[in-house]
Amino acid sequence: MNINDARESGIDFLVKRDDLRICRSGEGESLDGADLQPGQVQLRIEKFALTANNITYAVFGDRMGYWNFFPAEAGWGRVPVWGFGRVVHSLSDRIAIGERFYGFYPASSHLTVEAGATGAGFVDLTAHRRALPDVYNQYARTSTDVAYDEDHENVQMILRPLFMTSFLLADFLQDNNFFGSRLAILSSASSKTAYGTAFLLSRMPRHPEVIGLTSPRNASFTESLGCYDRVVTYDQINSLPKDLPAVYVDMAGSGAARASVHQLFGGNLKHSATVGVTHWDEEALNVQLPGPAPSFFFAPSQVQKRTADWGPGGVNERFAEAWKAFRGPAAAWMDVREERGPDAVKRVYLDHLEGRADPRTGNVLSLVQGL
Ligand SMILES: NC(=O)c1ccc[n+]([C@@H]2O[C@H](COP(=O)([O-])OP(=O)(O)OC[C@H]3O[C@@H](n4cnc5c(N)ncnc54)[C@H](OP(=O)(O)O)[C@@H]3O)[C@@H](O)[C@H]2O)c1
Repeated sequence: MNINDARESGIDFLVKRDDLRICRSGEGESLDGADLQPGQVQLRIEKFALTANNITYAVFGDRMGYWNFFPAEAGWGRVPVWGFGRVVHSLSDRIAIGERFYGFYPASSHLTVEAGATGAGFVDLTAHRRALPDVYNQYARTSTDVAYDEDHENVQMILRPLFMTSFLLADFLQDNNFFGSRLAILSSASSKTAYGTAFLLSRMPRHPEVIGLTSPRNASFTESLGCYDRVVTYDQINSLPKDLPAVYVDMAGSGAARASVHQLFGGNLKHSATVGVTHWDEEALNVQLPGPAPSFFFAPSQVQKRTADWGPGGVNERFAEAWKAFRGPAAAWMDVREERGPDAVKRVYLDHLEGRADPRTGNVLSLVQGL
């Protein structure tokens, strides 16, 4: 009753927790299913996406608990990713071998979970995950998931987890009447999360001018996305019209860029939202800045607020509508690159860590041999 794997053990991609530049592959779970306990299921992680967001999980691994999802040997971490897994062993009476699930996996070839039932899939009840946020513990069965579309699964894997934040962020700004701003300034404008946010903002009635801040090497790509009214490089922040009320939406987390925006706009900065740290090695120091104190954008709070406003299902319905409008245009420019094996995973991880990755590329990876 199992699908044969060529190897006896799976593969884990491991990152040194106190120096993210050091990484290697290591021996993963055993694959014969002999260790499985009743209720447990082993999934072969067929493919997963890797973007700067996964680097942020590693950067915040200790501070925000991302290393706790998939424990590794002491001093090392397994980077969480979004992807698709197929059941290869099952001691659950609700989950069959061969079924496929979308969800939060480690960058590994295999994962064993303790599958508790939900309507549309399962929730991992493994003891060390119970204290972690629910949203990361749920797995959707592709055969019944209304959001799943076989022809677009790579795009789903790469963009959907990011676009949910884009959707909630754009909605948060609109819900607050854009804080009375005439300018919405997004850093790391070339990132997929910023692009999704700009895409939605640019379609909203009476939206502020949408300004993308980016690095010189990503400026022409960012302009080509067509949803920023203006693209400005980090070294040109002082050219922005400082007399207009502005909101700063910070995906970069760069201390220098944030200080420049706050110092330029001062009291005209109406809100400063921290969303990401793509520029993780230039992370902001805790310095006193003019204007409002930067506040972390916590997406679940906006979900909670909108569930109260719109009723159960309201967020999902609106998100589905936004996603349908977004995925076509996004897929049109994205160059999806599928690669396999430990060397490819290491290279793509390091390219993202060091800021060398091409923003036009959507990376899809696998550590499973011989699929
Ligand atoms: N809080 C949340 O709920 C949430 C949810 C989703 C995403 N996010 C955050 O949003 C950010 C964007 O994620 P993404 O997956 O959309 O990114 P992505 O598409 O992979 O972003 C690529 C861009 O990020 C910048 N970048 C990436 N690595 C860099 C490095 N090492 N040094 C300098 N710049 C680098 C570059 O943009 P520029 O040249 O334009 O700066 C690059 O073109 C991440 O920090 C992520 O964690 C937060």
